[in-house]
Amino acid sequence: MRTLSDLLSEGVRGRRVLVRADLNVPLGTDDDGNRRIADDGRIRAVLPTLTMLREAGAKVIVCSHLGRPKGAPDPKYTLAPVAERMAELLDAPVAYATDTVGDSASEVVGGLASGEVALLENLRFNAGETSKDDAERTAFAERLATLAEAYVDDAFGAVHRKHASVYDVPKLLPHVAGRLIVRELEVLRGLTDDPKRPYAVVLGGAKVSDKLGVINALLPKVDKLVIGGGMCFTFLAAQGHEVGDSLLESDQIDTCKKLLADAGDKLVLPTDVVVGTEFSDDAATSTVAADAIPAGQKGLDIGPESVALFAGAIGEAHTVFWNGPMGVFEYAPYAAGTRGVAEAVAKVDGLSVVGGGDSAAAVRALGLDETSFGHISTGGGASLEYLEGKTLPGIAALQD
Ligand code: 3PG
Repeated sequence: MRTLSDLLSEGVRGRRVLVRADLNVPLGTDDDGNRRIADDGRIRAVLPTLTMLREAGAKVIVCSHLGRPKGAPDPKYTLAPVAERMAELLDAPVAYATDTVGDSASEVVGGLASGEVALLENLRFNAGETSKDDAERTAFAERLATLAEAYVDDAFGAVHRKHASVYDVPKLLPHVAGRLIVRELEVLRGLTDDPKRPYAVVLGGAKVSDKLGVINALLPKVDKLVIGGGMCFTFLAAQGHEVGDSLLESDQIDTCKKLLADAGDKLVLPTDVVVGTEFSDDAATSTVAADAIPAGQKGLDIGPESVALFAGAIGEAHTVFWNGPMGVFEYAPYAAGTRGVAEAVAKVDGLSVVGGGDSAAAVRALGLDETSFGHISTGGGASLEYLEGKTLPGIAALQD
């Protein structure tokens, strides 16, 4: 796989370089009702690639998706706030195109000088970006490719998507992997190629069904698989416990029963949970045993005994991968589980990797020191699919 260094050594001064980034940042709303970036980690993660290209004199054209608009412009998902934040972080202007492959994009790209940066509007405002129809995707990729002379993929968080900007554009332009992708792959290889043991994986998040692939793939490879978050309630139900109004995927109970039977003592589940009924910072809560969740109550975090149990399994490990919050950490009464797990992961004597999206955002939202983790991945789904052993279309395209 060719990398940014190869492209730079060929010389990029004055050349138009398209950088596919994953700027799919979580957005909140400020007191005046304006959309604001809740966590800029993904913008910061692509800065090394952008800076190297700028310093080498390239005309840098950045593109990304944001959210899941339905193939047409939707102001809720505009990248305009991202352009603003990117300019602050680069300490340089970022020319912003109000479309992706239309007149605005041509004009903005045409006006770039060496070392300058432009950001195109959300790729997913175009149906071709995510289309399952190869011809429709290729047609959009061709329009995108005409804007540039070379392509750098630095969108690690999107490499598991067979989308035009990730999969088809590299077929049309000289292509290389950016700094972020190279680093992410290096770290993930440390998890799959002979990890130092014990190896523990901690999974959270809402749905078991989203994580079944990775659970099945990882169980034979890990020493401990620790499960918290909304998905643990389907496992608790599979053990025959009542889960009240907690998240439950009834159609996955049999699968969870089989996993419990096959996994033996590798699977670690919570022994107590924090229950409540309200999502707010002053919600009334109580802590109950995991096999005694009262009717009408929702399990919204793991309890303190579970935090100690999970921290014990994590503390014994020399390789740890953590993906998914333990509870609804956005609300103070349900944040202790995620905080406890994050703190345990940060103390690991060996390789510790935080896998993407929500868990990475949780680390920052809870004010934890990012540098105490071995690596904080920018890709949630992408890192899980990598660990599952799947072919990632965006990586395959860079290898051709
Ligand atoms: C992510 O947030 O995992 C990536 O940006 C991919 O987004 P998607 O799941 O909407 O394709």
